[in-house]
Parts: sequence; C-alpha cells; structure tokens
Amino acid sequence: MAEIGKDIEKAQQLLRSGELVAMPTETVYGLAGNAFHPAAVAHIFKVKNRPAFDPLILHTDRLEKVKQFVRDFPPIAEQLAQAFWPGPLTLLLPKSEQIHDIVTSGLDTVAVRIPQHPVSRNLLEGLDFPVAAPSANPFSYISPTTAQHVNQHLGTKIPYILDGGPCTVGIESTIVGFPDGIPTVFRKGGLKIEAIEGIIGKVQVNTHSSSQPTAPGMLNKHYSPKVPMFIGDIPKLLAEYEEKSVGVISFQQAYLGESPLQFTLSKKGDFAEAAQQLFAALRALDTLAPDVIVVELLPEQDLGIAINDRLRRAAVQ
Ligand code: TXA
Ligand code: MG
Repeated sequence: MAEIGKDIEKAQQLLRSGELVAMPTETVYGLAGNAFHPAAVAHIFKVKNRPAFDPLILHTDRLEKVKQFVRDFPPIAEQLAQAFWPGPLTLLLPKSEQIHDIVTSGLDTVAVRIPQHPVSRNLLEGLDFPVAAPSANPFSYISPTTAQHVNQHLGTKIPYILDGGPCTVGIESTIVGFPDGIPTVFRKGGLKIEAIEGIIGKVQVNTHSSSQPTAPGMLNKHYSPKVPMFIGDIPKLLAEYEEKSVGVISFQQAYLGESPLQFTLSKKGDFAEAAQQLFAALRALDTLAPDVIVVELLPEQDLGIAINDRLRRAAVQ
C-alpha cells in the first residue's frame, strides 16, 4: 500500500520528479500530478481508469498564477475568484497555450481552483507548476474524504498519500463556466448556488446533459457504490426489502436504531455536517455490503442541493 504521511517536502519532491501524490483538499482528496508534465498527467488517467475525454482541474495557490494559465479572465469570473478563493469553487476559463491538451481533453477551456485546505496550500505554494488533480478514486466510484479512503483503492498505484485528516466540506467543488458570457453552474458542489448568486446575481444551472457532457461529473451514473442503492421514503423501502439485509442513509432520523447499517448524516439537521459525512457513509455501507442501500433525499436547499445531486447519480436509475 502507499505510504501515508504529513511530509509536504516529500510530496513536492515526488511531484517535481513526475510522480503522483494524493493530496487533501477541503472538498475531497485529489490525485495530483505535475500539470506541465504530460506523462504525469497521462499517468493520472491510467491510475483512475478515467476516460481521456474527461478533463482535469488545475490547482494552484495564487490568483496571479491562475492568470498565466488562461487567455481571458472576465470581470464576473474575477468577482467570484475574489469572493470564494481559496475555496470549493472551480472556474472554467479559456485556456492559454501553456496548458497541454491532455489536461483539458482537447477543450478550449481549462478548469482551475485554488483550494483552501492548509496542507494543499503549503504544498502548492512551494511548486512552480500547477497540479492537475481529479478526485482520488477509481473512475465513477465514490470520492475519498480521508487518506484511508484513497489507500483502499489507489494504494498500490501511487507512492505517497499526504494526510490532511478528514475533508471538512466533503463534496466536490462547485464548477462555474461562462459560455457566451453567461455564468453557468456545471456541477453543484460545496459552494452554495445562493452564495454565488449573492455576488453576481442569477446564474444558469446546467448539470444534466448526459449525451455530450461538458463536464462528465454530469454523467448520470457517477459516485456509485457497488451495492444497489434506492432513493425514496425509507419506511416504505424498508417494507419493500423486508426479506433482504438493508443499509440506511438518512438525514436526521435513524430508522434502524443502533444498527451498524444505519448512517444518520446529521442528527441536528445541519447541511454542512451531512455533506461532510456523505461519502464516508456510502463507502462504509458499500464495505459492509448489505443486499441493498436505501436513502432519502434532503430538503432541496443549501448544501442539500449538491448532496441530492450526488445521491441521484449514485442510485440505481
Ligand atoms: O473538489 C474538487 O473539484 C476535487 C478536488 C480534488 O479539487 N476535484 C474533482 O475533480 O472533483 P474531478 O476530476 O473528479 O472532477 C472534475 C470535473 C469533471 O466532471 C470534469 O469533467 C470537469 O470537472 N471538468 C474539468 N475540466 C473541464 C472543462 N474544461 N470543461 C468542462 N468540465 C470540465
Ligand atoms: Mg471525481
């Protein structure tokens, strides 16, 4: 398995020499490689078993650096960057010549983010290149929110996992692009849409084109456990699957008492706490491997919007 540790210099050395390292961010753990090193980027796709049509996000620590990677930084994008970076926001901007096509899967835009986690900030500060970093999970499986999650699936494929503890946000960044100058959310995530609209006014939301996805995080099946998962009214689903072993993921209320198959995301009804717990609960249940997992949607507000998006994509359609 990979070595898990807190040695930032070691992680930087590995990245400089073209190796991959898992790094913590406040959203989920990323599988990082030198974005200016095409072989390292190609290796990311291989380790994740990710199709080459699914582009990567560049991560760096300063806005001045981001400006070197893009041809244009429209004022409306800059307003968002000023308001929410470092943080769980990814911007899609026209890429500069410097960015290799392998990073963007040939698209004319590049995804960029300045993460907030202190460990990733220290790591990125000391590098003279951005890192390309998708979530550190096998393609279409549940994103990792601890170093141990990364080790479970990618441990034999990478040398080092930088441990920054459990992720505080727990779901991926919100992705915003500007097609024809119109601010558009392409992935609902850890930055609330209300917060974005508080800065730039009404935005479009376009997270459901599945045939020709602009962001394959938009693909309908994603973030999926191996155990079949069903969404609905939990008491009804429990009655329906009475003959089977059933795991439950619910928001505030426990339906299986103290059973280890019961995961309550936030007893006090806190959306941020629920987001933080979500992927760990899905992974834990997938490992316990009941016959089915049943879940309920959260109220469609606050981070409930992004949580419900992940649950719908993870469920059997
Ligand atoms: O929170 C996050 O964003 C995490 C952490 C590690 O930063 N990263 C992450 O990366 O979730 P990934 O690769 O798992 O998801 C990135 C999404 C994909 O759905 C990809 O298709 C989309 O971003 N994407 C990347 N570049 C794009 C581009 N130029 N245009 C449209 N979508 C893009
Ligand atoms: Mg991902």
